[in-house]
Amino acid sequence: MWPGDSVLGRNVGKLPTGPTPGMASEGGAVLSVDQVSKSYGTTRALSDVRFSVGPGEIVGLLGPNGAGKSTAMKLIVGLLRPDAGEIRLRGRNVVTDGVEAKRTVGYVPESPALYEFLTAAEYLDFISDLYGVDPATRGSRISEFLRGLELSGHEDSLISAYSQGMKQKVALIAALLHHPRLLVLDEPLNALDPRAARVVKDLLRDLASRDGVGVLFSTHVLEIAEAICDRVVILSHGRIVAQGTIAELRRQAGLAGSGLEAIFLALTGTGDLTDVVGALRR
Ligand SMILES: Nc1ncnc2c1ncn2[C@@H]1O[C@H](COP(=O)(O)OP(=O)(O)OP(=O)(O)O)[C@@H](O)[C@H]1O
Ligand SMILES: [Mg+2]
Repeated sequence: MWPGDSVLGRNVGKLPTGPTPGMASEGGAVLSVDQVSKSYGTTRALSDVRFSVGPGEIVGLLGPNGAGKSTAMKLIVGLLRPDAGEIRLRGRNVVTDGVEAKRTVGYVPESPALYEFLTAAEYLDFISDLYGVDPATRGSRISEFLRGLELSGHEDSLISAYSQGMKQKVALIAALLHHPRLLVLDEPLNALDPRAARVVKDLLRDLASRDGVGVLFSTHVLEIAEAICDRVVILSHGRIVAQGTIAELRRQAGLAGSGLEAIFLALTGTGDLTDVVGALRR
């Protein structure tokens, strides 16, 4: 616990969010995805996908299972190459200028694979080395994150002995250490308990509003998207079926006064679930 914390209301200002080097020069989008397509063999995972994330913007990437969210994220961080189209991180092409582009991004995959034979302290030190995090300040930065996410006291245990949520927290800290300008988070709150989920939500808001970090995150929990996203992008079968603020999507779906769930179900073609639920009950 941090001094002055209440049970859920976190003072995220105590987490090491900034200042971030290079922010003054920030102008255009931190991420632009332009007409990107990707297939796995004969499976078309993404078709002509186009969206951007501006500095300080939190964008939710939503869509049913298999819609292409994780594929889009792997393309954005350079783990996969697009078949067509272009992805730029702060103007740098992620394929042709990969090393520089990757310096600017922090990524938490759907199922983070950590080096489990290391302790969390060793792992985070190793990641700091990879990204050239200043050795003079990294120790206190790592300690603050560990404390904020209630991992203090566990940092010298092997990651193999961590619970799923604890591993998720280590992956998140690893993604933040080098002051990324863009965070790409694939269902980052999945395994987290309510307190940790709240800390992370507050932290994302703080990083976006105070430090101008762009955030792209996927989630199936529409309440979370509704609560923290400036905009959402909805994918279905690899295509963008809608993007905009919740208010814009409401208008687009002709569902005045509706929540994101109704909009999502209408736009992804799963609006009438009565038959599905009936079939499942039989
Ligand atoms: N490595 C792979 N090899 C072959 N097909 C793949 C591979 N990864 C994903 N796919 C296919 O690509 C499509 C998009 O998958 P993706 O994992 O991007 O979806 P998603 O939106 O992240 O789904 P979820 O909500 O379940 O995480 C699916 O049809 C999936 O079967
Ligand atoms: Mg996925």
